[in-house]
Parts: sequence; C-alpha cells; structure tokens
Amino acid sequence: MDTAAALSNHDLRDEIKAYWSQRAATFDTQPGHEIFSEEERAAWHQLFRKHLGEGAGRPALDLACGTAVVSHLLDDLGFKVTGMDWAEPMLERARAKAKQRNRSIRFLMGDAENTMEGDNAYDVITNRHLVWTLVDPLSCFREWHRVLKPGGKLLIVDGDFVNKTLVSRIAGQLNRLLAKVGLAAEHRPPALGETHQSILSRVYFSSGARADTVADLLRQAGFSKVTVDYDMRAIHRTQRRNFSFLKGLERATQHRYAVCAEK
Ligand SMILES: C[S@@+](CC[C@H](N)C(=O)[O-])C[C@H]1O[C@@H](n2cnc3c(N)ncnc32)[C@H](O)[C@@H]1O
Repeated sequence: MDTAAALSNHDLRDEIKAYWSQRAATFDTQPGHEIFSEEERAAWHQLFRKHLGEGAGRPALDLACGTAVVSHLLDDLGFKVTGMDWAEPMLERARAKAKQRNRSIRFLMGDAENTMEGDNAYDVITNRHLVWTLVDPLSCFREWHRVLKPGGKLLIVDGDFVNKTLVSRIAGQLNRLLAKVGLAAEHRPPALGETHQSILSRVYFSSGARADTVADLLRQAGFSKVTVDYDMRAIHRTQRRNFSFLKGLERATQHRYAVCAEK
C-alpha cells in the first residue's frame, strides 16, 4: 500500500468513528437499533441461539457493540460478554445501560480491526452492522480468526444497503419524502445524511456488502463451515410493529443476512 492510500484510510477511520459518535445520542431511540418488544427480543435470541448455542459462561466478544444491544442478547443467553467499540459516546451509553439493567458486561474501547486481544481468547465473536463500513475486511477477518479459540464461532449480522430491490428503493424514497414534511420519522439527522453517503462511497464495500462476498473473504481469512442465513423474517416481522408501513417494507425487502463461520 502506498503512503497516500495509508493516509487516506487513516482519515476514513477517523471519519467513521466521528460519524458514529454523533449518532450515539439518538441511537437507542430508533427501532431497528434498540429492541422495543419482547417478541423482537425473542426473535433475536432465536437467531443467536440457532448459530451459537447457549452461552453456558463461555466468553464472547461483541465487536462494534455500540450501545450494547447485541451484548445484552448474548448476556441473556448466558455468555460472559465483552463489548468493544471505538466511539466513546456509544460506550458511555452501553455502560449506563448495563448498570441500569444490573448486567455484568465488560466494555472496552478498541478497534474491531485490531482488537489488541490475545490469541485464542474467545469462544464467540459477534458483530451487527459493522462489516459494511470496514476499511480492510480481509485483514480484519484474519484478526477475528486469531482471537477466536479453535472451534470458536463468528456471527456477522449485516446487509447490503447500496443495491436495493425496486420495492425497497420506492419504499425508502417515499418514506424519506414523508419524513421531509414531518409525516414520518427520520432515520438519521438530515445533516448526517451527506456524511453517511460520503463514508459509504469510500469503504471497501462501497458497492454493497453482499453476503456471498463476505463469506468468500471469511474463507480466505481461514474460516471454515461458512454459512449464510437469509431468514431474518421473524425479526423483521416483530420490528415492523414499531416502523411505519413504508419503513417496515423497505427493511423487509433489503439484502439482510447473518453469516456464521468457524475457526
Ligand atoms: C450501526 S452501529 C451498530 C452498533 C451495534 N453493533 C448494534 O447493532 O446495535 C455501528 C457501530 O460500529 C462501531 N464501529 C465501526 N467501526 C468500528 C471499528 N473499526 N472498531 C470499533 N467500532 C467500530 C461504531 O462506533 C458504531 O458504534
């Protein structure tokens, strides 16, 4: 990699961190991020249990934990959870939430692409909505492989937010129009829309994080038994109750998935 590219990557990481730091204040107010019903919580539990089994005290690392929504799901299942994020405003909220719910979850500030954790340290690594903004996914997946114990499992929950189906595109555009005239909720503060687009245009997955591409990179990084689960219907069904009709339709017709892989 030449020096100019290295410098521009460094800048991009800083921008991503700053972007999420600004999103932290309203993150947990939004359906699709925080969980707003026991039905939705149960649907998420089902997904994690299906791929990872019960926690039984096993150590789990929830990377890019944000306000710790996934960390709490893992804690519910009995994992011994460490949440890591590089945005302090997110971590502040994660710590406060765990304290308020009386949960014993450890939080670390750190970079998911370079965790500084030991070799073979965790039985499970999870992340939700991180991969689409990774700057160097292959080296990052190698890092996760290093940190997992042999036989340990990685579960990625993510989506392609660039290539949209026709229905998803129309639903999204109508929803944004309604939001402009105050008839629907904004997904993100309007001022951050341009920042989001600018970041998205420069990350590795600027053309969209397709599940198959993510799975191929995981195999290149040394993972085996890589499987893609597209069945997010139970989660989307329960989320729909907290979305407008159009937002629910947009979400249900996006390319969203869970990828599970083993070391
Ligand atoms: C969309 S939020 C998802 C938060 C959480 N995983 C969830 O699903 O509720 C993305 C999070 O990833 C974090 N993040 C992005 N890249 C990161 C990196 N390289 N290292 C650590 N955290 C990162 C951001 O700070 C932000 O908190």
